[in-house]
Amino acid sequence: MKDPRKFWNKLAPRYAKSPVRDEKIYQQKLEITQSYFRPDWSVFEFGCGTGSTAIVHAPYVKQILATDISDEMLAIAEQKTQAQGITNISYQQGTLESLSLNPESFDAVLGLNILHLLPNVDETIKRVHQLLKPGGIFVSSSALMRDVALHWRMLIPVMQLIGLAPQIAHFNKDELIGKLTQNGFAIDHEWQPAKASLFVIARKNGN
Ligand SMILES: C[S@@+](CC[C@H](N)C(=O)[O-])C[C@H]1O[C@@H](n2cnc3c(N)ncnc32)[C@H](O)[C@@H]1O
Repeated sequence: MKDPRKFWNKLAPRYAKSPVRDEKIYQQKLEITQSYFRPDWSVFEFGCGTGSTAIVHAPYVKQILATDISDEMLAIAEQKTQAQGITNISYQQGTLESLSLNPESFDAVLGLNILHLLPNVDETIKRVHQLLKPGGIFVSSSALMRDVALHWRMLIPVMQLIGLAPQIAHFNKDELIGKLTQNGFAIDHEWQPAKASLFVIARKNGN
């Protein structure tokens, strides 16, 4: 994709209005994540979209730095956050490569519905590992594109050609788990709520 920022900016108003696909699964993911949180934790989220999940998690931690490539997504997130009187989320535009962040400065990193949308999953996992304190957790929720029905997979290149789909990385469950463990994580919690989706809490080794 030529310009992912443009793609996601254009999508932002529609994305903000789209309902959560499965509310029960979403609530369960929130609950599992919150069972790890501590009130003194600093959390980093990349690809936060319109901030919905950061807003729900905010009362359970000290602070959240929520980031996204799309300033349009972030503008909506900021509005929602202010409207709800939440003061411990700060938003910043950027990517894992462009943001200037100190190593080992977060207790948890959230990457939700984003890993399969990034050009290099291994580099992403390495960067997340670098940002986490030893013993910190990486919470990810990803589409397993290799397990998506063939007719959908065949449609993706066509949709990309006409600008209706972003760039997409293809991996299955074992490949993603392998990438995490090869890059210094131990799997703490693993849940496949559907055939082609994986929710994982991975802990940075070392504590
Ligand atoms: C499918 S949405 C998921 C949003 C949110 N995490 C959620 O679960 O609702 C993907 C988000 O990732 C953002 N994004 C895409 N590429 C990115 C990148 N390279 N760095 C940071 N954010 C990115 C998009 O702007 C979009 O907000």
